[in-house]
Amino acid sequence: MDTKLPQIKTELPGPEAQKILALDKQYISPSYTRDYPLVAKRGQGALVEDADGNTFLDFSAGIAVVSTGHCHPDVVRAIQKQAETLIHMSGTDFYYPIMAQLAEKMAAITPGNFPKRVYFGNSGTEAVEAAMKLARYHTRRHRFIAFYGCFHGRTLGSLSLTSSKAVQRNGFGPLLSGVSHVPYPNPYRCPSGNGASQCMCDCECTDFIEKKLFKTAVPPQEVAAIVVEPIQGEGGYVVPPPNFLDRLRQLADRHGILLIFDEVQCGMGRTGKMWASEHSGVVPDILVTAKGIASGMPLGVMVARADVMDWPQGAHASTFGGNPVACAAALETIRLLEERYISNAASMGEYIFGKLADWKEKHSIVGDIRGKGLMVGIELVKDQQSKEPYPEARNKVVQSAFKKGLLILGCGENSFRLMPPLLIEREQADFALDVLDRCITEVEK
Ligand SMILES: Cc1ncc(COP(=O)(O)O)c(C=O)c1O
Repeated sequence: MDTKLPQIKTELPGPEAQKILALDKQYISPSYTRDYPLVAKRGQGALVEDADGNTFLDFSAGIAVVSTGHCHPDVVRAIQKQAETLIHMSGTDFYYPIMAQLAEKMAAITPGNFPKRVYFGNSGTEAVEAAMKLARYHTRRHRFIAFYGCFHGRTLGSLSLTSSKAVQRNGFGPLLSGVSHVPYPNPYRCPSGNGASQCMCDCECTDFIEKKLFKTAVPPQEVAAIVVEPIQGEGGYVVPPPNFLDRLRQLADRHGILLIFDEVQCGMGRTGKMWASEHSGVVPDILVTAKGIASGMPLGVMVARADVMDWPQGAHASTFGGNPVACAAALETIRLLEERYISNAASMGEYIFGKLADWKEKHSIVGDIRGKGLMVGIELVKDQQSKEPYPEARNKVVQSAFKKGLLILGCGENSFRLMPPLLIEREQADFALDVLDRCITEVEK
């Protein structure tokens, strides 16, 4: 893959891809959600090559995972070196240097100038489960507050928080009791009906918790934690109003409730800062992250205030969590993010939002464009006045982009998201936006 831009050479899916699709159809769990038949064979930077030699520009980054791009040579070297030295020992039962070193780094780069402790799992959902257990243990309270539209994972604890799509919960109940969902402030679709221009929904939503929920259904002294994505990911790349996290912080403090930030999707430099919550300056008691932390190696991390992580030996652990190879990939990923890619995410994000500035005038079905850095969401509507969601158009745009060599994914009911690796260049952003411009124009016709 010598070029920076993709090239489609066969019908999609091509003959080799079709063989894999047939095998997959026979053996793989039907629960997976594949939007189009990409059969990836090789990845490099922002490009992915499929089984037939077609190349694609990956504006999905393997769902916000390959933050430093596919197979970054420095990350590959770090993985190889660690794999030659120690692949596994289990941090649950033994010690090894790189786990403690990564913990020290995580404590240093996460918000909050206080002592912290770090727990390692293998995925986002494990990090969330750990945070939920710790919050219950520390507070000796059992309830949680989460937000409509949020996604925190699919294991039974985190699924009890998740309220992104009903299909994710259907048939799996009863889930954890004691989880209450409240509206997430969306300036474009303000739940109070105020509209984006005079959005006060940060206080509407926090007031709802305090003045309605706490006075009627949920005694605050039973609430262990409020769990929130600083920017909502699967729910539609929704950026809340600037004061929202601060109001949540104050509300939590008033009632002795812990504040948990889920930065699994919006963290690791994607928004142009290491953490999306840094844009607000609000500090959580517990932060969870995964996805982009190790450029594709499985790793989930929960970082908590040291005084909160007071559970005893044996209370929680995982055989593979903090695996040495994943830790090596994470340390190298963080080095690269700090050295160049977070600033690239900020400047390329600015470039992309600049180019999208007139799309609402240009395209009648573009209702909202939002995000930060390289976390870009575009919401499609039937009519800009009524804002009626247009999921069919979104689905067509995602399909049509694939045929043109661009990988994107949907989010929310009727939005799609751009979440490229943080190393993309202008030429690649231009290509992606040109393809999307053409796809949206086709759908409008
Ligand atoms: C915000 C957020 N939290 C948690 C998760 C769950 O992560 P995983 O799929 O690694 O379990 C996701 C996955 O999309 C996510 O976006």
